[in-house]
Amino acid sequence: MIYKTTLVAASLAVAAILTVSRPSGAAPGADQATLERGQAHYLLFCANCHGVNGDGQGPLVRLLKVTPSNLTVLRRLGGASVAERVLTAVDGGHQVAAEGHKMPVFSDHLEVRTVREIGVYLDSIQQ
Ligand code: HEC
Repeated sequence: MIYKTTLVAASLAVAAILTVSRPSGAAPGADQATLERGQAHYLLFCANCHGVNGDGQGPLVRLLKVTPSNLTVLRRLGGASVAERVLTAVDGGHQVAAEGHKMPVFSDHLEVRTVREIGVYLDSIQQ
């Protein structure tokens, strides 16, 4: 009985740690709910090209002339922050002719808040 109680307590403690912990490199103030929303938006709007893991290897890659950027190494590029790069890209700042298709301009379709949440998520997956 004591054993069981200890086990339950231990797993609750682990669950608590997992819930509170952020992916390494997450921006301060990047709470779990924001990260989760950002990830959900990312999977919906960006992963087809940039890959589920952000590595630039999404299922549409073979249709594109230009390989989508690996979004897990944006911080290494220096200069603009991850959030700024995301805002620029969705604003059409990275228009690339790719078999007649460009990286879609999302800014007319996504709320700034949504884009920011994607930025927070991408910031958290930097390698
Ligand atoms: C139709 C395919 C496609 C979709 C969908 C797409 N992208 Fe892209 N994205 C690209 C391509 C291709 C590039 C490379 C542009 C270049 O090399 O200049 C790119 C570049 C970028 C960059 C530029 C990285 C840098 O060097 O600063 C960012 C950031 C980015 N995308 C974010 C996003 C986000 C966020 C979404 C979802 C809201 C998204 N992309 C959806 C194709 C796509």
